[in-house]
Amino acid sequence: MSARRDTILREMGLAPLWRLRARTRGGKSAEPAQATVLPAARTIPPERAIPAAAGGERALRIAGMDWKELGDTVAACRACALCEKRRQAVLGVGDLHAEWLFVGEGPGADEDEKGEPFVGQAGKLLDNMLAAIGLRRGRGVYIANVVKCRPPGNRTPEAAETAACFPFLERQIALIAPRLIVALGRPAAQTLLGAEVKIAAARGRLFDFRGIPLLVHYHPAYLLRNLPDKAKAWEDLCFARATMRRLCEEAPARSP
Ligand code: URA
Repeated sequence: MSARRDTILREMGLAPLWRLRARTRGGKSAEPAQATVLPAARTIPPERAIPAAAGGERALRIAGMDWKELGDTVAACRACALCEKRRQAVLGVGDLHAEWLFVGEGPGADEDEKGEPFVGQAGKLLDNMLAAIGLRRGRGVYIANVVKCRPPGNRTPEAAETAACFPFLERQIALIAPRLIVALGRPAAQTLLGAEVKIAAARGRLFDFRGIPLLVHYHPAYLLRNLPDKAKAWEDLCFARATMRRLCEEAPARSP
């Protein structure tokens, strides 16, 4: 393990847990398997599906926007009550042709002030998590949120707010066309999968968002509050990295 990765894992609260250890008697290494046999992508059974928000004329318009129009529209959006208390809308940040798309819940106070997702404490942890698997914000990575305006008091976005904002996220996904989506936390997972999701049950599995493989991770803010679960985050990161490797092997060049 490189010194830099060591430092990052220590900051994440993962070291020394993640040092390679000798194989146990059962032949299992303490390091999460990197050559995991990945389960096939699964979709949510219809009985657990949450009905998608009605598309309508507004969603159709958004679905035809380029990045400039999308940015302007999000900045001026008044489609739900979240616009009333925001300082600014936060569209997203990163590589517009990213292979990795990370989707969080919504901007907090720091993001509302700076106009960029995940710049507070949770963002620092996210950056460290990215670095632990050799990724960096903006380099092959795009970070977005389900809602683009800060929910007051950092509460979970309401269904109507999520529904009003969803066409923006849909358009971002269509424009980026990532190889892999990582939903950070329950609201992001539920929004993208259109179903009730329990992170503990969904992590480590491969889902599908309209043909794009999707993984579910604990939200970094949750990990900050629940230190023991940080260990699971490393397993999830290894799974994400193994999934991306497999996707790249299966289709080395992405279609435009
Ligand atoms: N939490 C989120 O879900 N998104 C952010 O941008 C910041 C914190």
